[in-house]
Amino acid sequence: MCTGAGIASVDTVTAPIDPTTTAAWSRLSALRDSFQPDLRGWFSADADRVRDLTRTVGDLHVDLSKNLVTPEVLDALIDLAGETGVRERFAEMLRGAHLNTSEDRAVLHTALRRPAGAEPALVVDGQQVDHDVHEVLDRLSAFADRVRSGEWRGVTGKKVTTVVNIGIGGSDLGPVMVYEALLPYADAGIRARFVSNIDPTDIAQKTADLDPETTLFIVASKTFTTLETLTNARLARDWLWEKLAAAGAIDDTDAARTDAVAHHFVAVSTALDKVAAFGIDPANAFGFWDWVGGRYSVDSAIGLSLAITLGPDAFRELLAGFHTVDEHVASTPVEQNVPVLMGLLNVWYTNFLGAQSHAVLPYAQQLHRFAAYLQQLTMESNGKSVRWDGTPVTTDTGEVFWGEPGTNGQHAFYQLIHQGTRLIPADFIAFVNPAYPLADDGRDVHGLFLANFLAQTKALAFGKTAEEVEAEGTTGALVAARTFPGNRPTTSIFAPSLTPAVLGQLIALYEHITFTQGTIWGINSFDQWGVELGKQLALQIAPAIEGDDDALAAQDASTAALLAYYRDHRA
Ligand code: F6P
Repeated sequence: MCTGAGIASVDTVTAPIDPTTTAAWSRLSALRDSFQPDLRGWFSADADRVRDLTRTVGDLHVDLSKNLVTPEVLDALIDLAGETGVRERFAEMLRGAHLNTSEDRAVLHTALRRPAGAEPALVVDGQQVDHDVHEVLDRLSAFADRVRSGEWRGVTGKKVTTVVNIGIGGSDLGPVMVYEALLPYADAGIRARFVSNIDPTDIAQKTADLDPETTLFIVASKTFTTLETLTNARLARDWLWEKLAAAGAIDDTDAARTDAVAHHFVAVSTALDKVAAFGIDPANAFGFWDWVGGRYSVDSAIGLSLAITLGPDAFRELLAGFHTVDEHVASTPVEQNVPVLMGLLNVWYTNFLGAQSHAVLPYAQQLHRFAAYLQQLTMESNGKSVRWDGTPVTTDTGEVFWGEPGTNGQHAFYQLIHQGTRLIPADFIAFVNPAYPLADDGRDVHGLFLANFLAQTKALAFGKTAEEVEAEGTTGALVAARTFPGNRPTTSIFAPSLTPAVLGQLIALYEHITFTQGTIWGINSFDQWGVELGKQLALQIAPAIEGDDDALAAQDASTAALLAYYRDHRA
């Protein structure tokens, strides 16, 4: 199946179908031309609308009824999935086809959450995938247990109380998001911190109050070449040596330093040779494979910080949650297939109704990093202008994903969603039961919180007419200011509680929404060439920052002027 460097032979995968040439696209265009959004009218004319547009996947109850769709639009979208081969492409992904054509790789994050002993065993490109995945998972779990129980000790014999994950992009955003979301499950007295930015402020502040004797660093990098991560790892190593020496815990010898690293550094990477070259004992390294994209890797060994802080059982529950949605997406007809339907709705909004962004609004403070996580997942995946065979896309692609938890967002940007001129489809995510059931003067605070979730989706859908405003006694110009147009589309995702399994389901839901959209657009959602140029230029510009005049002279006028400003103002 491998074809070497460059774009893989497209005959190994289905060639992209131009969605704009399909009959479904023509129908959708015609429907769009006469489209009159009318959620009030649709709800009053159809008593079954909510029932007909509510779906479940795992523990997720997904109400699609407040979306701007009629049965005709939905039918055409479902046909679009059929004509562009969405389900076939899911099947190709799951069997290990090289869907990542530009890197000629399989795309197998779904294999990371297959249960042990799943039949038939997955063998891809000669690799016993299930075997290898579970071997690493078992090692990782055993290591996590050793740290949690205190069997693993620092160089001075103390138990680990803080793990610091050093990584960036997919080697950071997934772990930090899940850690924050599942913090109530952190039951071993071990907390995590996450260092990602090459801005030295990040590591300086995150280590400032740490005790080196009780700190374990996890260097998490798929490639183990990432500038930010390797720089921070070296800074962390220097910090460890310096602090331990200052405390009299180690002496000034290479042997003592090596011993300190062996006790306080572990790594996660696909490049175990580079891990060893950094000085980390390969016995303390956990691998994964090039068929796991960085933004799809939180369920690989990249989740080591989670297995340590939340426990291996919680980590496995998270994986089981992912798998629930993988099975759903693979075996459910499009009409009932939640990720595919949500991806289709996003295509409707992006390509037919002119939406440029998509808000994700969790009514769960624990999900305060969810939107940041989704930004990499969705925008690094689908922010592309060429298709998987190298030809230009034929329509707009990846929308901008953004968001903040409610109710904070209500007091910040919701104004624009309610009354602005732009169409912003939004996903609301909420949980029936809170992690912290608190009462205010006898009132359940979580209940009040949920009332806001329900109120917002209702206001967005149905608005408030001028007549309703006037009926409240408002007159003149204020009537228009107080009118809400409604017909602002939302999807409500409700689940009983934010458990590890439910979080896994949520993440997998968005992974598959992203893949659905990428497939329709003909995009390879698994490469990220767009981040390369900036990385190369930073390396070229760094010498100019450090005083190299030739490097300065090689810059364009604007960059040179900014460098001159830097030199003039440097303290
Ligand atoms: O720069 C983008 C990227 O390659 C992401 O896709 C990836 O998640 C991140 O950098 C970190 O890469 P690594 O895990 O190899 O350090």
